[in-house]
Amino acid sequence: MPAISSPAPSAVILVTGANGFLGSWIVRLLLEKGYSVRAAVRNSKKGNYLKDQFKSYGDKFEIAVVGDIGKDDAFVQSVQGVHGIIHTASPVSTIVDDPRDTADEEVTVSEEVWNEQRLEECNKLGKEASGLAKYSTSKLLAERAAWDFMQSNKERISWDLTTINPPWIFGNKPIIHEVDNPASLTSSSRRFWDAVVNNNFWGVAPLERPGHGWVDVRDVAEAHIKALETSTAGGERIIVTAGSWVWQDIINTAISLPSHIYKRHPAATGPLEVKSRLISWDTRKQERILGLKFRSMEELVHDTLANYSEHGWY
Ligand SMILES: NC(=O)c1ccc[n+]([C@@H]2O[C@H](COP(=O)([O-])OP(=O)(O)OC[C@H]3O[C@@H](n4cnc5c(N)ncnc54)[C@H](OP(=O)(O)O)[C@@H]3O)[C@@H](O)[C@H]2O)c1
Repeated sequence: MPAISSPAPSAVILVTGANGFLGSWIVRLLLEKGYSVRAAVRNSKKGNYLKDQFKSYGDKFEIAVVGDIGKDDAFVQSVQGVHGIIHTASPVSTIVDDPRDTADEEVTVSEEVWNEQRLEECNKLGKEASGLAKYSTSKLLAERAAWDFMQSNKERISWDLTTINPPWIFGNKPIIHEVDNPASLTSSSRRFWDAVVNNNFWGVAPLERPGHGWVDVRDVAEAHIKALETSTAGGERIIVTAGSWVWQDIINTAISLPSHIYKRHPAATGPLEVKSRLISWDTRKQERILGLKFRSMEELVHDTLANYSEHGWY
């Protein structure tokens, strides 16, 4: 199946959501590896920030203003002449302040069941379903639409689809997307800030929740690029996670760091033993196809806190 050999200086990769938390890391890694990048953004203001960030790459970096991606023709112009597409643009909502948002019994998640239980919850509860169930179901349905498109057009398509399925993504070193202050951090990055700096877990018990997976944003970016470069990734959905966690794991890790890195909140408790994380992950496909070596939680927490200090936030 088609794959792009690395590094491919003449290859142009379209990255959607290029100004986002994950998208901006993908752009950066692609440029560092020698690719040319077409960065799709909603409007030129968002593009100007990125142009400034990546100006040292000259004409290897260009902006494509695509407007709202809900429009049918949003990408008609920007896909012309590209050799690969990394699609990250999506509204992201992780309002996880409800225990129903996470598992209540031990479960192992593999590619076969990823997000399926969220869909079941939405089907059962409709509007009353939890915030995370609605968000995860939107991801599952979008992914299914992409696979259905591939299936119905397989006779006339000469390219492959891979879907990368990360759980909670954390990490900012440096913060390269446009964030002026901690209040502008969004989704998982905002939750990390609130938990570690403010000891605020949004109403969930840090020893028990969320009981989900985590991964460093730099590793997720790497996974997307490896998927472009690895022929056996074509036609696969791949879970990319460094492991299971609850908030106390992150607090325990922060506490183990030097005091100039983690400035302990007076109400922070720990280190405390975590007895259960409920979800475990079957990551054999990732290991077989992408072979990523994940950053440790210590590196993630250290780098993120050090970066807050560099910004003068902490
Ligand atoms: N963060 C996580 O923990 C996490 C975990 C698993 C999966 N993911 C997935 O990873 C991807 C990137 O997430 P992220 O954390 O990087 O989020 P993010 O920082 O909020 O970035 C989302 C990007 O999508 C763009 N976008 C959203 N809706 C759009 C629309 N209607 N039209 C045009 N552009 C639109 C945003 O553009 P604007 O800035 O113009 O809004 C932004 O560039 C998403 O698909 C998300 O579901 C994230």
